[in-house]
Amino acid sequence: MKIFIDSADIEEIEKAKAYGLLDGVTTNPSLIKKAVDKLKKKGENIDMEAYITKILTVAKGLPVSLEVIGTSYDDMVKEGKRIFEKFNHVANNVYVKIPIDPALAIDSGSHFAGLNAIKELSSQGIPINCTLIFTPEQALLAAKAGAAFVSPFAGRIDDYIKKKNNISSEKTDYFPADGLEDDIEDNGIVSGIDLIEQCVIILRKYGLKTKVLAASIRNPRQVRESALVGADIATLPFGVIEKLLIHEKTIEGMNKFAEDTVDEYAGLLKG
Ligand code: G3P
Repeated sequence: MKIFIDSADIEEIEKAKAYGLLDGVTTNPSLIKKAVDKLKKKGENIDMEAYITKILTVAKGLPVSLEVIGTSYDDMVKEGKRIFEKFNHVANNVYVKIPIDPALAIDSGSHFAGLNAIKELSSQGIPINCTLIFTPEQALLAAKAGAAFVSPFAGRIDDYIKKKNNISSEKTDYFPADGLEDDIEDNGIVSGIDLIEQCVIILRKYGLKTKVLAASIRNPRQVRESALVGADIATLPFGVIEKLLIHEKTIEGMNKFAEDTVDEYAGLLKG
């Protein structure tokens, strides 16, 4: 499974790259706001074009998703092309992020605009990451429309199911807590990982080339379970990346090896 960083913070992207594990970067308007707020706090001026160019340069060789903000077919296609034309020449690594459904209200007439924008932009050779996936059928439609990646949101569906069932977040970090698996669900989905698994099963069943990118990941256990259910990629906040390797028994083991190292062996290695 590939590991992406879910961040628009250049320091975080640089660090994750230096850790030697990074396969890609995903951003969204909220992550860009977070990065911009951090810079403003430091009193720095923001030149957004230069900032995005820096992200793409730091991530050279790795796919970087940049999201549209439009909610109509015309706007999303225009913005998608603009993003690609303006930035793909920097490092040839731009993926355009399109929401599966850009409607801002249930009674909107524009629910299918995302699907059509994906079709149009992919047919022009622009790789698409389809975002805000909360059902396997949304993933299927995005894949059929030609999206390169579909991004089911694991953590947010967990939050949604918890809220619907009055389960407080403090009660369990990992969801579903033991014993709850079959009792609660949203439209046949029992957890974020279940959503990811159902997307993987459907896309593989029909030989669709679209990659399942597990998004909205909140902890290392979800990373493991995304890999277990066959996600192609997981995009992780920097905080989750930092937690991936740490285990107290590994640290304890290192201390014991250091303590037991005899001079004869150490001398041999220092040569
Ligand atoms: O990239 C989008 C997704 O990963 C968002 O995560 O934590 O805001 O639900 P989150």
